[in-house]
Amino acid sequence: MTKEKILEVKDLTVTIDTRRVIDNVSFDLYPGQVMALVGESGSGKTLTALSILDLLPVGAVREKGEIRFRGKNIFELAPEEIRKIRGDRIAMVFQEPFTAMNPVMRAGVQITETIIAHKSCSAPQASGRLEELLDMVKLSREAARRYPHELSGGMRQRLILAMALACGPDVLILDEPTTALDVSTQKQILDLIKRIQEEGQYAVLFITHDFSVVNTIADKVCVMRQGLVMERGTRDEVLRYPRHPYTRQLIDCIPRLGDRRQRLPAQDTAQE
Ligand SMILES: Nc1ncnc2c1ncn2[C@@H]1O[C@H](COP(=O)(O)OP(=O)(O)OP(=O)(O)O)[C@@H](O)[C@H]1O
Ligand SMILES: [Mg+2]
Repeated sequence: MTKEKILEVKDLTVTIDTRRVIDNVSFDLYPGQVMALVGESGSGKTLTALSILDLLPVGAVREKGEIRFRGKNIFELAPEEIRKIRGDRIAMVFQEPFTAMNPVMRAGVQITETIIAHKSCSAPQASGRLEELLDMVKLSREAARRYPHELSGGMRQRLILAMALACGPDVLILDEPTTALDVSTQKQILDLIKRIQEEGQYAVLFITHDFSVVNTIADKVCVMRQGLVMERGTRDEVLRYPRHPYTRQLIDCIPRLGDRRQRLPAQDTAQE
């Protein structure tokens, strides 16, 4: 692939109370590619994502490192420029989806408001775009008239995805987008994300702690533990030939649902 990298995280180090919660993390993201950031709870996945948007919580200090979007270090941009990138060029689906929703606003209206806020377009233009987005995430017109609490978990996730896609971003950061869902809804949402990603050729940073999800969606994998990148590679490299015992442990945690041999490439040939 000769595509230019779109996002580059270089030697990122973040401390909280002098503890290194992100320790020299580096990776690249390319258009059309899904990179899974995987690791146990507290390994630094969300803080890495928040760093990319320059939205670290109070008390977290970036000690060193660069984050380059299209070659430009985002930490050197004017506040106006970073605001334009955030949401417009790099969209994030946050780990707690409810925080992104307005409980007293109907689903469709929330999407339209997002479009208008970012694109400063007219109401008719926005409603045209709304129709497109609803089709994209397969949310019905009827569901778009409901309030968030009247939607199922899967529908809410579709709403959040539509809001993230509203401005036609280049990079999508999805922080555990399916963790709160039951298994069959999880599969539907993963299939949807995969289809949207392929059609739009988005660069996706997909955060998860679940290697069965990694197996379904990722092209590349970056395994984190205690703020450190333990290993990195293509999905098959990491799943078939994990170099680090920690990665192997995580792979062994894949729930034994369905036929495990179909879920893990490492076992396909070995046991058939
Ligand atoms: N706002 C905060 N204040 C203090 N410590 C924090 C804060 N946010 C994160 N941390 C700490 O930083 C470390 C990394 O947290 P982070 O949220 O990035 O982990 P994570 O990999 O996303 O975990 P999870 O899978 O549970 O979402 C953890 O030790 C966490 O306790
Ligand atoms: Mg997290």
